[in-house]
Amino acid sequence: MKINGKATRSIWLEPDGWSVGILDQTQLPHRVGFLRLTTCADAAHAISSMQTRGAPLIGAVAAYGVALALRDDASDENLERAYALLLATRPTAINLKWALDEMMAAVRNRPREERVAVAYQRAKEICDEDVSINEAIGRNGLTIIEEIAARKKPDERVNVLTHCNAGWLATVDWGTATAPIYMAHDKGIAIHVWVDETRPRNQGASLTAFELGQHGVPHTVIPDNTGGHLMQHGLVDMAIVGTDRVTAKGDVCNKIGTYLKALAAKDNNVPFYVALPSPTIDFTVDDGVAEIPIEQRSAEEVATITGRTKDGRTETVTIVPEGSGVANYGFDVTPARLVTGLITERGIVAPSRDALERAFADHASRR
Ligand code: MRU
Repeated sequence: MKINGKATRSIWLEPDGWSVGILDQTQLPHRVGFLRLTTCADAAHAISSMQTRGAPLIGAVAAYGVALALRDDASDENLERAYALLLATRPTAINLKWALDEMMAAVRNRPREERVAVAYQRAKEICDEDVSINEAIGRNGLTIIEEIAARKKPDERVNVLTHCNAGWLATVDWGTATAPIYMAHDKGIAIHVWVDETRPRNQGASLTAFELGQHGVPHTVIPDNTGGHLMQHGLVDMAIVGTDRVTAKGDVCNKIGTYLKALAAKDNNVPFYVALPSPTIDFTVDDGVAEIPIEQRSAEEVATITGRTKDGRTETVTIVPEGSGVANYGFDVTPARLVTGLITERGIVAPSRDALERAFADHASRR
């Protein structure tokens, strides 16, 4: 996609051919900052500090993290160390483990002198595959938006609600939840996006709003508790969210607050879609609520708000009384029964074991 008119991905190989460039997402939307990763430790830090984030993208960064580690030392011991370090950065998104397993499978049985080249090649493929998967998700999701648009009066727009950032900033390009939105907009469909701000880290307000704005997609940022009200008043035609892990029976783990939106959608007959690439499906897990590890982050993220002042200074202010307890669960699980459909690269799949196994038999048998 584009920033200030210039085409970019969220991760790239630098002109030196080995170091890895990423956007520093903690600086958005105020500043477009870049980071150059030169070691595996840099990659691990970028993921755990959320300079880079979003399930598919952390997988891509971790893949290059393995390549950087092998560049330093291509031994088995260092490979294992890199795998463990990167895997420990964030617990919930399964794409991280998927990408690390892909890297392991690619290099483990190679002689040491071949490992670096093989690792860079596989990391590049993981990035390119993510882009083509997201394009296919976009095409498949577009059909749903087109159906809704066809029922609208000429002066009406299609209203989509999204939560967190499952846009191109969370993937290598296109995004998952945003790919159908970008394609609809590019096709001339009048589309408008309600963007949940997504406290505490505000990925909606800071990142989704930024990228939709860069692409010229009409959107409105709303406080997280607004969606139910909008749905009751017929102002939401569909919800599309991303996900960090989908279980074998179709439960969906995504940014905290997704479940409440799905409940409101069910109560108001608003279709609730989840867009995902196949590496997000975890066939080893069945019951999302019981089995998916939910990341808990620092109290600081909830107790404070950081923003940019008019004169360009970054300020963090406290909003919680000293001494009050604070909890910061990063994700929640939306049971399959609340999900209308899974928008995947292989089509719209029902959130059920049968449908997932049928559509992704090759993946199901691998796990
Ligand atoms: O904590 P984050 O910002 O990494 O969480 C991101 C999300 O929850 C996204 O919705 C999810 O990763 C899907 S990204 C295509």
